[in-house]
Amino acid sequence: MTADIGFGCASLGSRVSGSDGLAALARAYDAGIRWYDVAPSYGDGQAEAILGQFVAGRRDTLSLCTKVGILPPSPSLPKRLLRPVVRAALNAAPGLRQMVRRHRPAAAKPPLDAARILPGLDASLKRLRTDHVDVLALHEATPQEVVRDDVLRAIETALTSGKARAISIASSPDAAVAGIAASPLYGVVQLANNPFLPMRERVAPALPAHRSLRIVTHTVFGASGMVERLTALIRHDAVLAAALADAGYAGGARDQALAYMADYAFAANDGGVVLMSMFGAGHLEANLARRGHMVDPATIRAIAAHIPPDAAT
Ligand SMILES: NC(=O)c1ccc[n+]([C@@H]2O[C@H](COP(=O)([O-])OP(=O)(O)OC[C@H]3O[C@@H](n4cnc5c(N)ncnc54)[C@H](OP(=O)(O)O)[C@@H]3O)[C@@H](O)[C@H]2O)c1
Repeated sequence: MTADIGFGCASLGSRVSGSDGLAALARAYDAGIRWYDVAPSYGDGQAEAILGQFVAGRRDTLSLCTKVGILPPSPSLPKRLLRPVVRAALNAAPGLRQMVRRHRPAAAKPPLDAARILPGLDASLKRLRTDHVDVLALHEATPQEVVRDDVLRAIETALTSGKARAISIASSPDAAVAGIAASPLYGVVQLANNPFLPMRERVAPALPAHRSLRIVTHTVFGASGMVERLTALIRHDAVLAAALADAGYAGGARDQALAYMADYAFAANDGGVVLMSMFGAGHLEANLARRGHMVDPATIRAIAAHIPPDAAT
């Protein structure tokens, strides 16, 4: 078995323009990617509608996951008009990305209750131009929210109406464990997972073995400097560098870090779905190549033992 790759659409319509995004989605589809992950808040609120254009005519051949819980930001008109200019500036000077991120309007996460779930799902279906999603995920829901009676009733209605084929908890390990223990309605768990945040491994012992849960992982490379951290570790830790060399990793430290992080994601989620942002054609190609050659999970774990995980996971 192996992990499926899912296309993560968090940057669709924000960092990546609609036209470039549509081209990247089609490129991934042609390469065999059939799982697309989106949310109302992604792409500064643009991602679902752009993905909807792509889905039209392909709906029966792919799986869609959208979410409910985080509201799209509402950027002011001047900010919306400036979006293409900012995008062009960032493509020319990627170093400015951190600064722009700080000024991006924050998406709001109001308390999750039943009143948000079904109307939220209907609005997403409209933007996605479909009558159902394969997975509806509770986006960054808390352990308290995933067990609320009204939330459970709303997700049951979403399932019985056929508008959602499965329900996911896309949040912390604590929320996943609480929800799965409270209700059989949850069939999917979505978590960050990489050598610094090994949440898939941490959550595994707490999930009941008799439930057939689909596990979806993300934050393979991480937006917050994880590749650079692993690159620095490889440069400065001779034991880690030797373990990677013994396992056949070659090239510069950064190339090894990227290859290992992809391999870690696939090995740690065998049988599940690994979400990746792959708007760059080279990234799609590189990730498909890594998935194709699946390193032995025991080797991946042995190397991970040399990478100190972040404390708060
Ligand atoms: N709570 C949640 O449920 C949650 C949270 C976070 C993320 N997600 C989902 O997961 C998706 C992925 O997000 P992420 O944060 O995990 O992003 P990621 O896949 O770790 O990607 C981060 C960055 O790495 C780049 N990249 C991809 N493959 C690469 C490679 N082989 N070499 C070098 N760089 C590479 C991507 O560039 P390009 O895109 O330009 O190619 C992107 O800029 C999101 O889009 C979203 O759908 C869900």
